[in-house]
Amino acid sequence: MKKILIVFGTRPEAIKMAPVVEAFRNDNVHFETKVCVTGQHREMLDQVLDFFSIIPEFDLNLMKPNQSLHELTANIILEFKNVLEVFTPDYVFVHGDTTTSMAVALTSFYAGIKVCHVEAGLRTNDKYSPFPEEINRQITGRIADFHFAPTESSRQNLLKENVEDAKVFVTGNTVIDALLKGKKIIAQNVFSSVEELKSICGSENEFILVTGHRRENHGKGFDNIILALKDIARRYPTINIVYPVHLNPKVKGPVEKELSGIPNVKLILPQPYEAFIWLMDNCKLIITDSGGVQEEAPSLGKPVLVMRDTTERPEAVEAGTVILVGTNKEMIVAKTVELIENDEKYKSMSTLNNPYGDGVAAAEIFDVLKKSEL
Ligand code: UD1
Ligand code: UDP
Repeated sequence: MKKILIVFGTRPEAIKMAPVVEAFRNDNVHFETKVCVTGQHREMLDQVLDFFSIIPEFDLNLMKPNQSLHELTANIILEFKNVLEVFTPDYVFVHGDTTTSMAVALTSFYAGIKVCHVEAGLRTNDKYSPFPEEINRQITGRIADFHFAPTESSRQNLLKENVEDAKVFVTGNTVIDALLKGKKIIAQNVFSSVEELKSICGSENEFILVTGHRRENHGKGFDNIILALKDIARRYPTINIVYPVHLNPKVKGPVEKELSGIPNVKLILPQPYEAFIWLMDNCKLIITDSGGVQEEAPSLGKPVLVMRDTTERPEAVEAGTVILVGTNKEMIVAKTVELIENDEKYKSMSTLNNPYGDGVAAAEIFDVLKKSEL
């Protein structure tokens, strides 16, 4: 029996690793699977753990308000080393590009333990965008022994970096597994806040959903985003802008200061995953700088304006669901106006497609590991 340790720390990693945890925990003949959370996020992570009923065996509880990347990285390395000494896994699973992933991969490598990288191979090749994620995932990619690439283009990125072909597996993105599971749960049980959300959002398919958090947008980028949202709110007083505000003080501070009090801008707390799926499924369009939301929206047929200059997720742009608008105020406003006023444009961006897979990524990841052990 092989010992598996699945590690994550933030909201999006938890959502995307939940299907992997389920796949491995369903087989306790071949694998002993434990979960470690660094607690890089606290409230936003716990919302996801609750939704997917994951109880971690190890919780490093490392979040501190406004903590620096240096302190976070150092603390993860020191604390996670202790977990490795207690559990001594054969394989450590990390996800994507967070500081948790990079520091955990490095700590595992120092301890001689194999690293499996889920959502491997995404690249902008711009060191500072997204910051620090581009370098986090490049470092993780150098260390990893198994690379689970969500798409062919992410596989190609790894091959260009001379990663051995036999170690790269195209699986689709586990976010689609999570999204489909979430939709099923919502269809079976109406979640408790749905009526409250309906009254906040107003008519279905008419409100705009906004999220934002990227570090490279802190400061000037967010100032422009705020000006753009004010402009859109003024032009369309009957359309609600619904914005679950990220808890990072560098985001929450300016957003609440500048946007609260505008009647059709609804600032709400970060939403549990089921509620956020409902918001994505029922809005007219999404304005975001999120990675995960760019991947989920095509499966829901929702147009997305991405407030970034680069994306490591070209598939949805190619499929026509996503447009990069940067953090330029005029561009954000112009593209939003176009989607609201031009039906043809709106229809062309709201076709359903699944460039990130059809919900079986976790099963494929599980099969690869199982076969490699036979
Ligand atoms: C982190 C990841 C980013 C990922 C994002 C998803 C890094 C460097 N950044 O960014 O890649 O896209 O999560 O959301 O790994 N906070 C809370 N409660 C929470 C979560 C955050 O209060 O539940 C506040 C804390 O003050 C914390 C701050 O937000 O110190 C920043 O959190 P941190 O994880 O460092 O960075 P994010 O910007 O959230
Ligand atoms: N999400 C959520 N509640 C919210 C906002 C987002 O559950 O209030 C989900 C969203 O569906 C996606 C993930 O969180 O799966 C994206 O997280 P985030 O934007 O924080 O990180 P990124 O994907 O940019 O790394």
